[in-house]
Amino acid sequence: MRALLLSMIILLAGCSASQAPPKPLTAEQSAALVPKDARLAALYAGSCKSCHTVKDSQAPLTGDRTLWDPRWAKGPDALLTSALQGKGKMPAGGQCFECSPADLTKLIMFMAGREP
Ligand code: HEC
Repeated sequence: MRALLLSMIILLAGCSASQAPPKPLTAEQSAALVPKDARLAALYAGSCKSCHTVKDSQAPLTGDRTLWDPRWAKGPDALLTSALQGKGKMPAGGQCFECSPADLTKLIMFMAGREP
């Protein structure tokens, strides 16, 4: 039920996203982005940001929809599973030990350029 609700929230957020064609971001532009929610911002700064704003890490840059859209197309559940289990050079949980699955879902939306 909770997963279904989250999926619905994500789908709704996807529909309201702007339709402008995505542009690549520089690492500096990516690093300047911060989640609006202060608690999420702290979680992000303590984990995801260290890789997802650094091109050499091979992680898709936060906010760069040219990199995120193909991943987003896999669906929110697949992305959450990747974050929980780890993928390639990303450790399980994205190195965020305090993040709940709901936190990870919100962080993924933010990083994929779909913060509500
Ligand atoms: C140690 C570096 C590192 C950290 C920290 C990190 N990531 Fe990642 N992340 C990566 C890399 C590298 C990839 C690309 C993996 C691949 O596709 O091989 C990735 C990819 C992803 C993906 C896309 C997965 C897919 O299936 O395409 C998601 C979602 C993601 N990260 C979420 C997060 C979240 C949320 C956090 C913080 C809680 C986080 N990451 C922290 C390195 C990191």
